[in-house]
Amino acid sequence: MGMGSETRVGIIGVGCTKFGVRDDATIQEIAFEAVREALQDAGVTREDIQLSVVGTAGTRSYELMPAVPINEYCGFAGKGPIRVEAACATGSAAVYTAYTSIRAGIADLAVAIGFEKMNEVDTPTSLAVGGRSGSYLWEFHQYGTTFPGYYAMLAAAHMARYGTTDKQMAMVAVKNHRNAAKNPKAQFRKEITLEKAVGSRYVAYPLRLFDCSPISDGAAAAVLASEEKIKELGIDNVVWIEGVGYSSDTANMPKRADYAGLKASVEASQMAYRMAGIDDPLKQIDVAALHDCFTIAEIMAYEDLGFCRKGEGGKFIEEGESDFGGKLPVNTFGGLKAKGHPLGATGVAMIYEIVKQLREEAGDLQAELKNYKGLTHNIGGTGHFGWVYILGV
Ligand code: COA
Repeated sequence: MGMGSETRVGIIGVGCTKFGVRDDATIQEIAFEAVREALQDAGVTREDIQLSVVGTAGTRSYELMPAVPINEYCGFAGKGPIRVEAACATGSAAVYTAYTSIRAGIADLAVAIGFEKMNEVDTPTSLAVGGRSGSYLWEFHQYGTTFPGYYAMLAAAHMARYGTTDKQMAMVAVKNHRNAAKNPKAQFRKEITLEKAVGSRYVAYPLRLFDCSPISDGAAAAVLASEEKIKELGIDNVVWIEGVGYSSDTANMPKRADYAGLKASVEASQMAYRMAGIDDPLKQIDVAALHDCFTIAEIMAYEDLGFCRKGEGGKFIEEGESDFGGKLPVNTFGGLKAKGHPLGATGVAMIYEIVKQLREEAGDLQAELKNYKGLTHNIGGTGHFGWVYILGV
């Protein structure tokens, strides 16, 4: 272990743009919007940054290699040689790159930027590109599956095995829309009723429109620093990265042993829990941002992360356990479902949310804190990547 490996890494600043259709701005401009907020929040300048990591899933933009244009526009030219991609988990992987550089003692102040402009292509193109998030030859080429189609298979398996209902899935959407309605940066700022959700059109049976996250544009940024640098700068409202875990699963979905959960979520959470000393997430964690790209994904995540037993995720939402006042509030800012899901931005936006929560800056959406610990869970593809962070103050 090198000298740098013992340093703790803290998040000292976060920024996030409004999510939605962002025809008003280029990718450089939305990235800068998030970066400017994060730098101001941290109280540092762009000259202080030693490493910039740009995360984007890409494939939906005319700008195919955007790291250099973005870094140049944000004032990080020469400090930003890295572009990271991990499908919808790109943002978490970008934060990890900044984190490991600091742990290694190579940089002591780094920024992770996540962004996506998905609306540069039309919906059919977006759906087809999403369908190619695993192995092109063994998934998309064989079956022509769209991205909602994959999660529809997982939903069907979960419903068949555990009796999970379309109403329970819709309850995830109702909760997340209710939270997003109070989040000025959310894509959908409107509450929905259970009737509206279960009455909406099918996108890929059994998933309906209100089971899906939307197609979104947006960016988020986080400034990370070593403990030594934090002391030097005299910063005291730091949120520490206490645990991080990652995993992956087969590129070829037909090779999966189980369709009613994601192995990558189980393994990533266990790794993060070990590092952070979490034995009982319900008792030790106050607030969580889970990857609800589809409502069934949030239900499976309750189970895979050990918030409840396997098969009891439907009951967990039905009994209000993931709502404010429940055992563990989930997706307090509206989740991917209603806040929006600009792929590369999402993992960093989850960090933004949990940092705001742990610093008690979440306003109307503030969760009650007992242990001052929060969790992010970010999936890429259909469990092709899994990332979990445990943050604490
Ligand atoms: N949830 C709720 N409302 C949605 C929505 C969603 N996911 N997506 C679109 N809408 C609304 C729009 O705001 C619009 O409302 P309006 O008529 O009041 O203005 C209406 O539905 C039609 O929107 P449109 O953009 O034409 O929908 P679409 O049919 O092109 O796209 C989906 C709908 C579900 C196909 C699209 O949102 C989608 O592909 N989602 C999945 C994204 C994905 O796979 N992400 C990667 C996951 S990891």
